[in-house]
Amino acid sequence: MTARPAIPPFSPTTKSASPLVELRDGTKVPQIGFGLYELREGEDCAKAVEQAIAAGYRHFDTAQHYYNEHTLGWVLKHSGIPRDQFYVTSKTPWNITRRSILVECEASLIRSGLEYFDLYLIHWPTGDVVECWHAMEELQRLGMIRSLGVSNFSVRRFEEVFFAAGCSTPVVNQIEFHPFYQQPELTAYCRQKGIRIMAYSPLARASIELPPVLHTIAAAHGKTPQQVMLKWSLQLGNIIIPKSRHPDRVQQNLHLGDFTLSEQEMAQINALDQNRNVLTFRPHNYF
Ligand SMILES: NC(=O)c1ccc[n+]([C@@H]2O[C@H](COP(=O)([O-])OP(=O)(O)OC[C@H]3O[C@@H](n4cnc5c(N)ncnc54)[C@H](OP(=O)(O)O)[C@@H]3O)[C@@H](O)[C@H]2O)c1
Repeated sequence: MTARPAIPPFSPTTKSASPLVELRDGTKVPQIGFGLYELREGEDCAKAVEQAIAAGYRHFDTAQHYYNEHTLGWVLKHSGIPRDQFYVTSKTPWNITRRSILVECEASLIRSGLEYFDLYLIHWPTGDVVECWHAMEELQRLGMIRSLGVSNFSVRRFEEVFFAAGCSTPVVNQIEFHPFYQQPELTAYCRQKGIRIMAYSPLARASIELPPVLHTIAAAHGKTPQQVMLKWSLQLGNIIIPKSRHPDRVQQNLHLGDFTLSEQEMAQINALDQNRNVLTFRPHNYF
């Protein structure tokens, strides 16, 4: 594999409706991204990405395993907006060996038609995460990835395997995080290490009945309870990547800048933790 030209800086314009946050490697990322899980290659996915771009999203979260890298890249390319105004995250395959990472990341880039990913994550901490991390460092040196991160890592995986082998500190840990599943030990650990939380399923996949307090806070601000959930996560400093197929919700999930939750409201939402995850799988039970 040969080195590519240096990755140009991410250059958001005022049309990007999301605030930016800085990662520990000095790069900036839109704090609100658009999640692409379950939007498979094709018309539905293309429409969702077009809606998101029109609403002002510039950050997209995909993965090899989501089977939509081609559609995402195609829509970005034909959007009329330069590549350096978009921030694209993708993730490793399940099978993580040095060779599979090198081959599959390049395959993901070819599929998407993109020259580089802004962020590349170890999707699941299965297999040899240390070998995988070093392969990702090679990809970074080759100009294929800007920033390196992880997903679904537990404190145990960080401490007993990853940092024990001398791996450098990832910029993010993408984990399930919403009012009903706050993972306090893990999030405190990440914050102390300077690893930004990227909250997936920030709306708990719309699968948990929302308690009255969220409705009360929402009514006080003239917002929806879902917007309150997202704002709470933003105010904690997290990056969020909600997903919606509906244009009005796509808008609502991005336009959160015109209200602020009080300390008391934040505390009321903090108190909603039930250690209740919506993914069928709980990473820290296994790794
Ligand atoms: N790293 C990982 O292992 C991992 C795991 C899971 C997810 N993720 C990432 O995180 C992204 C988001 O997570 P997710 O898709 O699991 O769940 P989510 O964003 O919490 O929830 C999506 C669900 O919420 C509904 N919804 C969205 N906005 C809404 C609103 N304003 N009001 C009411 N309902 C709303 C959507 O329905 P409609 O479409 O009908 O609006 C959809 O059913 C994924 O797309 C993916 O990119 C990563």
